[in-house]
Amino acid sequence: MSARVLPADDAASIDEAAAVLRRGGLVAFPTETVYGLGADAFQPIAVARVFEVKARPSFDPLIVHLADAGELSRVSPTNDPRAAALAARFWPGPLTLVLPRQPQLPDLVTAGLDTVGVRVPAHPAARRLIAAAATPVAAPSANPFGYVSPTTAAHVAELLGPAVDLVLDGGACRVGVESTVLSLASETPVILRPGGVPREALEDALGMHVGVAGRAERPLAPGQLEKHYATRTLLRIHPGPAGPAPQGRVGLLAWREARAPGYTAAEVLAPDGSAETAAARLFAALRRLDAAGLDLILAEPCDEAGLGHAIMDRLRRASAPARRARPR
Ligand code: TXA
Ligand code: MG
Repeated sequence: MSARVLPADDAASIDEAAAVLRRGGLVAFPTETVYGLGADAFQPIAVARVFEVKARPSFDPLIVHLADAGELSRVSPTNDPRAAALAARFWPGPLTLVLPRQPQLPDLVTAGLDTVGVRVPAHPAARRLIAAAATPVAAPSANPFGYVSPTTAAHVAELLGPAVDLVLDGGACRVGVESTVLSLASETPVILRPGGVPREALEDALGMHVGVAGRAERPLAPGQLEKHYATRTLLRIHPGPAGPAPQGRVGLLAWREARAPGYTAAEVLAPDGSAETAAARLFAALRRLDAAGLDLILAEPCDEAGLGHAIMDRLRRASAPARRARPR
């Protein structure tokens, strides 16, 4: 059996998807970053199904999605002026703020933390869906836990299939990497996960230094676990531009062009040299290489400015040795 897929730009599909959410079902929907697997954030049983379908450990909190920043008080009592400034500048958009939670929110959503991750996605279909459902929507990326995130409806259908009640197809995701997760729990804002909004832009909006979480400060959060966003095929980051292929069936994830000889398969991320282009192509390219029956994927590194930070973060986690999630 395969997943039911409806076009996201159709009002009747949105109404049907909203009805599925209201009765406790799961809807995969497009956002500008990656596809999300959504459930009504205030229905614990629906949220539990999200964890089950993804085989996600319950200590990993979900991001709550709103249709509009005006609804923030439904999930957080914050009156932090930094949150207001960031929401005004970056919402709707690929920024998740970690804020004090509203106590009525189910514990499963926040993994029992006293904070909640919240964002307003920029994809019009996502906002229409959440508005029609008239409830905040808890949604992780719509992929099995640990694997590469989906940037098309076909990826979702292929990986999660009939476990999802409905998939809304809104085309390929524009940004292509997940939202930046920014904690405002401390005096200095801290990036817990680099993503679609670069650190430079956050510092510019806040007029202050923004930290990046090191290993020690990371909460129990698999997006921050070393092995994540991973292909099944072994992946290594090459220390610089790739040379001729090593022995075996090796795939190349190239930055600007793939001229080095001998690779069984190759993907070019940024023919125009821009990190935005590369981010939008990253996960689909990883999937294609992962499906090519390779022994190894060799990835060229990129400059860690702007979105390059999120791209290198994903590549490092994809290349990390597999290890059991260890509670810290
Ligand atoms: O772009 C995105 O953020 C996508 C789309 C669907 O919105 N969602 C996404 O969700 O990437 P997920 O569950 O795959 O990643 C959420 C990340 C995890 O690393 C989680 O630990 C972190 O956000 N997170 C959520 N709530 C948190 C909290 N209260 N404190 C710290 N980290 C939190
Ligand atoms: Mg994810």
